[in-house]
Amino acid sequence: METKLKPVNTSVMRKKPLSAYAADMQKSELKRVLTRWGLTSLGIGAVIGGGIFVLTGIAAHDWAGPALALSFVLAGVACTFAALCYAEFASILPVEGSAYAYSYGTVGEIFAWFIGWNLILEYMMGATTVAVSWSGYFEKLMHLFHIELPVWLMNDPITAQEKAGILRAAGQNVPDFTFAINLPAFLIVWVVTYILVKGIKEAASTNNIIVVTKVVAVIFVIVVGSFYIDTTNWTPFIPTEVMDDKGQPHFGFNGIVTAASIVFFAYIGFDAVSTQAGEAINPTKDVPFAIIASLIICTLLYILVSLVLTGMVRYDSLDLKAPVAQAFADVGLTWAVYLITIAAIAGLTSVMLVMMLGQTRIFLGMAKDGLLPKGLFAAIHPTFKTPYKSTILVGAIISVVAALTPIDKVSELCSSGTLLAFAMICAAVWMLRVREPNLERPYRTPALPIVATLGILANLYLMWNLRVDTKIAFLIWGTLGIIVYFLYSRKHSNLNNPEE
Ligand code: ALA
Repeated sequence: METKLKPVNTSVMRKKPLSAYAADMQKSELKRVLTRWGLTSLGIGAVIGGGIFVLTGIAAHDWAGPALALSFVLAGVACTFAALCYAEFASILPVEGSAYAYSYGTVGEIFAWFIGWNLILEYMMGATTVAVSWSGYFEKLMHLFHIELPVWLMNDPITAQEKAGILRAAGQNVPDFTFAINLPAFLIVWVVTYILVKGIKEAASTNNIIVVTKVVAVIFVIVVGSFYIDTTNWTPFIPTEVMDDKGQPHFGFNGIVTAASIVFFAYIGFDAVSTQAGEAINPTKDVPFAIIASLIICTLLYILVSLVLTGMVRYDSLDLKAPVAQAFADVGLTWAVYLITIAAIAGLTSVMLVMMLGQTRIFLGMAKDGLLPKGLFAAIHPTFKTPYKSTILVGAIISVVAALTPIDKVSELCSSGTLLAFAMICAAVWMLRVREPNLERPYRTPALPIVATLGILANLYLMWNLRVDTKIAFLIWGTLGIIVYFLYSRKHSNLNNPEE
């Protein structure tokens, strides 16, 4: 293993020496409290949320029909390749920072930076999207209890104006307002921020309770829903392909692939386990286990839920906003709507919890390496031992964006960043096998060249299938990242100062 620091290497492809990771781990001030199942619970906590409770409706209704289950298989397979590669990396470098940290030691600084930059899309944009979905479900819950909250308090300004217009057109008396804010989204982000500043242990136990609630709810949907399946709803299982007026194919094989890139969002989060390696008791064994276990559990649940859902309600009658809850309302199980709505709210809370936790740990890893300001992103609270300044900053950004932006449609942007990061991680783990064949690997990805190649291809293919607008937005974000790298990170990198 090559571990010596070279004098000063100014190449954008310079690598962090693997020995420096061990030193980082020894210096880490984070508490090691997370067990194997605690980590798995964090993984499931980050995964089951808006994807299954919201996006399944549009994916089946507009793109895949009953073959939605195949879209979940496809997206699940792409994630499995990435998860197997993540697991090997996590076993070698059990440090906070996730894919960013792994690629810094193997591929090179600018790649690592770019992965870190994309992970911001995954975690921050993911948490923001989920905060807005949370608010939507909260409104639904209030509605179930006959509490109607004013439009200007439940929506960002643009959405509020749109909704007010619709209500007025329907003859309702909606007063004029000059200000609007999505208050529930704003407040829930601060509740989560508070829990995270207080500490990982508190966050983990809160998360465990929520995870049990939502897994029970999902199993309930599968078991109870299966009694209401009408198998004629599954015919045709793959509806015939049709073209829309923009020339975009719906249904058929192409529709299944588009639906897979939409429901990919539902899987995002299993990799968040790798951001918590710095807090795991036995990271080399337990992080790989938790990554793979949480993905397998969620994939099985998702495939079953999509079969049940499209069996209960014909795909073209599925509700677009709350398809799972509505399916139960449609078959007359109104009481189940309460349970599903409460579970969805709990589920979305834990997704936010783990996404925001992951984001601060990635920032921590980047700041320790000098690529982000240390005073802000690596400051650890003396009592709580959490990166409190960074957590508060992340909470502030997410809360304001969620409160004021019509952001509920940006889940695809979150997916684009994640898909690229997954493809890059598959490439990086393979490169490390070639460069450092003798490195100790507590977990080895099986059939690596094949798994890595399929992982790269599958994730890039799903990325290619995202909407054009998303791809443009992604290019803008990427360009911004490169600019920040050259203006700040390259100059401040620890690798400019070999003594550090
Ligand atoms: N996988 C997470 C969700 O579906 C992001 O909400």
